[in-house]
Amino acid sequence: MPMSYDVLFASSNRNKFNEAKNILSNYGINLGFFKSRLKEIQAESIKQIAALKVNDAYRQCHKPVIVEDAGLFIESLNGFPGPFSSYVFKTIGNSGILRLVRTNRKAQFQSVVAYCDDKFGVVLFDAKVEGKISKNSRGNGWGYDPVFIPTGQTKTFAMISNKNEISHRYKALKKFSNWFAYR
Ligand code: IMP
Repeated sequence: MPMSYDVLFASSNRNKFNEAKNILSNYGINLGFFKSRLKEIQAESIKQIAALKVNDAYRQCHKPVIVEDAGLFIESLNGFPGPFSSYVFKTIGNSGILRLVRTNRKAQFQSVVAYCDDKFGVVLFDAKVEGKISKNSRGNGWGYDPVFIPTGQTKTFAMISNKNEISHRYKALKKFSNWFAYR
């Protein structure tokens, strides 16, 4: 295990960390996992959630740290579950989402990467990927991956091998890495 990391990634979600580590390694950033239970706050936007969480994370580790908050926004449900994606996944899950979505299946995944250190404070990077909700659950990915088909594809995020080259998380982390390199 390397002695030092460029940045820590605070989360309780290993899947997210693995994706982020893989993505940032392509930009020469060595990411460490700061396994932590951050304050479960509920807010109206994922930007707000990410900013509050990264403050909490920085208070715990006192090292350059990022958190990433994501949400699935479904057009016909006026953006639901959006910032409530985590709670909705735990309660009704993908089968509940499939029951709620009818003819207009358009959806987007949004991601906010929040960075914090003692020099810059909190800095946010956001991105999204457009797509649609599949008619049934396909593939063995985590979270909403088995029900989300990115635009231009016929397969769900759970079925494609290049999710980390096109995802909302990839796009937000790429913005972060550009900033991080020239900060
Ligand atoms: P959070 O960013 O951990 O709060 O994520 C909110 C919810 O969306 C959780 O239930 C995650 O499992 C799910 N989620 C976040 N990112 C992704 C993704 O890239 N694919 C599938 N589900 C995701």
